[in-house]
Amino acid sequence: MTSKEQGVAAAVRRCAGDLIRHLDAAGGDPTIAGEEIKASIARLMTYPDLFDVGIVRPANHGESSRIIYYDPNLVMIFGVTRVGQMDPPHNHGTWLATAVYRGELRYEGYLRRDDGSRAGYAELDCVESRVMKPGDVALCGAPPNDIHITIPVVDTWALVVAGGAFSNVREYYDPQKRQRWEKSEKAA
Ligand SMILES: [Fe+2]
Repeated sequence: MTSKEQGVAAAVRRCAGDLIRHLDAAGGDPTIAGEEIKASIARLMTYPDLFDVGIVRPANHGESSRIIYYDPNLVMIFGVTRVGQMDPPHNHGTWLATAVYRGELRYEGYLRRDDGSRAGYAELDCVESRVMKPGDVALCGAPPNDIHITIPVVDTWALVVAGGAFSNVREYYDPQKRQRWEKSEKAA
C-alpha cells in the first residue's frame, strides 16, 4: 500500500470511528448527534484523495459510485451525479447524510407526517431546502423521515453516509399530490 493509500484509508477510518462513537453516544439516533456527525463528515470532505479509494458499487443509480466504507450499520458511498440526473423525493430505508465533495447540489429534506397506513398516500413537510457546496453536509433521520431529493446544479461528487445497506425497494413521493409509489433499487 502506498503512503497516499494509507493516508486516505486512515482518513476514512477516522471518520467512521468518529461516527460510530457519536452514534453510540446518541443511542443510535443520528439526529441527536447531528452536529457532531456533520462535523466529522465535513472533515473527511477536506481530504484531497477520496477519488482514489473504494470498491465499485453494482446496481446503483449513478455512475462511478464506490463503497469507501462498510460495516452492517455504517456505509459510505462516494460517487458523481451529473446535471440532469435526478430522482423524485425518495427514501432508502435508513438514516442518511449527504455531503458535497466537489460541485454543487440542491438538497431538500422531508419529514413524513402521515402514519403510512393509506396505500399510495404520503403527507410530507419539506424541512430543509438549500444549495450545498463542498464541505456542506445534510442529514435526514431514520425511516419514515429519511426522505430527500438531491438535484445537481453542476456535475457533483458527493459522499452518502447511511446507517446500513439501502433497502431493495425505494419509496418515491410527490409531495404536492401527496402520492407515493415504490421502485426497485436495482431498476434503472
Ligand atoms: Fe437518495
